[in-house]
Formats: sequence, structure tokens, C-alpha cells
Amino acid sequence: MTNSFTPARIGLGLFKVPVESTQALVEEALDVGYRHFDCASNYGNEAQLGAALSNSGLDRSNFTVTSKAWIDELGPTGIQDALKRSLDRLGLDSVDIYMIHWPAPERDLYVASFQEMLLLRQDGLIKNVGVSNFHIDYLERLRQEIGSLPVINQVERHPYLQQQELFTYHSKHGIASQAWGPLARAEVFADSRLASLAERVGASIAQLVLAWQLSSAVSVIPKASSRKRLEENLTSADLVLPEDVLKELNGFDRDYRTGPNPADKN
Ligand SMILES: NC(=O)c1ccc[n+]([C@@H]2O[C@H](COP(=O)([O-])OP(=O)(O)OC[C@H]3O[C@@H](n4cnc5c(N)ncnc54)[C@H](OP(=O)(O)O)[C@@H]3O)[C@@H](O)[C@H]2O)c1
Repeated sequence: MTNSFTPARIGLGLFKVPVESTQALVEEALDVGYRHFDCASNYGNEAQLGAALSNSGLDRSNFTVTSKAWIDELGPTGIQDALKRSLDRLGLDSVDIYMIHWPAPERDLYVASFQEMLLLRQDGLIKNVGVSNFHIDYLERLRQEIGSLPVINQVERHPYLQQQELFTYHSKHGIASQAWGPLARAEVFADSRLASLAERVGASIAQLVLAWQLSSAVSVIPKASSRKRLEENLTSADLVLPEDVLKELNGFDRDYRTGPNPADKN
């Protein structure tokens, strides 16, 4: 597979958005200008995302959706069924990006699942085959055993977990890097050093951190629950940070995860 895929720079993350408020939030986000939505079977709100997209009247080519297969949906048959269930709930004929949510290495099903996703892509049900939470050794297994790599890897990434080695591998192999938890699940807002950097550039902490992510060609999918925050996060795309500020932010890395190490999630 040749990797020439460029994801939207900013999308809306839907993890932990309550089912009853998802449709209204997506409608608000569409109104603000969001056109990419990050969802998963495990989030429980695909149907509400689908309803908002359908109500918008937007042409299918004007928005993109990611969904993901959960750990208990892995395996060739599992993936086929999971994708069909997701498409059904979303009310779509195809998903723009479909990901293995976690590799769950102890189950040893991610290689077979990925191979099945390549077939589902040939069938037109998946436009782009992606993965999430893959370390380099899992990607290498795909490359060596199937001779193919995902077009995108969505991993935890924020100032405290910068993923430099993994992203160097991505660049070498044409894999797009996408950050989940791009605001360290709100932990950035309690950081006084980030607050003073944000003040220096005349932006909010969210805008500072998201602009830093975008500056290294990493796409982001921050979750936000109000119109003000949706707008604030989207406008971070217009913020260009000076070199000295970028350099300081690069120094925040301390290999700190808000979520599990993918090796341990099985
Ligand atoms: N692939 C995976 O395994 C995986 C794992 C986790 C997440 N994800 C995806 O990544 C998305 C984002 O990650 P996340 O939701 O865990 O964390 P996040 O986006 O880093 O942080 C979200 C938190 O930041 C707050 N926030 C957002 N914008 C803000 C702003 N401008 N000012 C102040 N607070 C702000 C949100 O508050 P409010 O919501 O209250 O506004 C929420 O508490 C998820 O929704 C999901 O789509 C994927």
C-alpha cells in the first residue's frame, strides 16, 4: 500500500461524550467548522454522530469519520462484523479511516485483523486503513509479515509524552501521526509553565499546545464540550509559534502517560 494520505489537521474527539449530548455537540461543531470526527465502537455514540452528519445535509465528500474496532472485535471475522455494525450505526456506506483501537499484543490478532482490513478496503468499506496505539515493533510485524503499513497511527501524544522515536519511524515510512489526548486529558491546564508560555504568545494554553502539535505535522482530535472551546481549539491552526517557544515545549517530554502503555492493554 502506498501512503499518500493526509488527515484533517484538527478533528473533534468523541470519547466520553455522553450519548444524549453527542448529536447536539456534533451539530455545534459542524456549525463552528469541524469536518472530521473521531469515534469508535467502544465510545457508544456512533449512531448520534451519524444522525448529526445526516441532518447536516452535507455532501458525503465534505466530512470524514474515523471509527475503530475494539479489542474484543479483533480477528478476521470479528473485524468484518465490527465494521458492518459501525457502518450501520453511523448510517454510512464507508468509513474514511478505520483503526485497530489497541493492538492487544497478548491476543496476537492484530496482524490477521490488519490483513482483513486491507481486504475490506478493496471492497470499498474502508477508505484508509489505520491503527491506534501501535509501538514500532507492532508496525514492524505488519511490514515484515504482510508487507504493508497503515496510513495513520493514532497514539497518545502531548508535551509530557512526545513520541519522538515512534514519529521518526512514521516519517521514514510515510505514516501520518495523530495525537489522542492532545491536551493530556486536561492536565495541561494546571501547568503554570505552560500558562506563562501561552501568555507570552498571546494565546490560551489549549491553543499553545495544539499549535505546537500541528507545527510538527501531527494532527489532533481534542474533545471539547462547549462552543467556546470548540472555536478556541479550531483557531489554534492559525497560530504560528516562534522557534524559541517550540524549543521550550520540546523540553517538556518526561515519558508520562495519562493512559495505559499499549503493551499492557490486552
Ligand atoms: N485511540 C485511543 O486509544 C484513544 C484514547 C483516548 C482518546 N482518544 C481520542 O482522542 C480524543 C481526545 O482525547 P481526550 O478526550 O482523552 O483528551 P484531550 O482532548 O486531551 O482533553 C479533553 C479535555 O480537555 C478539556 N478541554 C478541551 N478543550 C479545552 C479548552 N479549549 N479549554 C479548556 N479545557 C479544554 C475538555 O473539557 P470539556 O470536554 O469539558 O470541554 C476535556 O476535559 C478523544 O475524544 C478520542 O476521540 C483515542
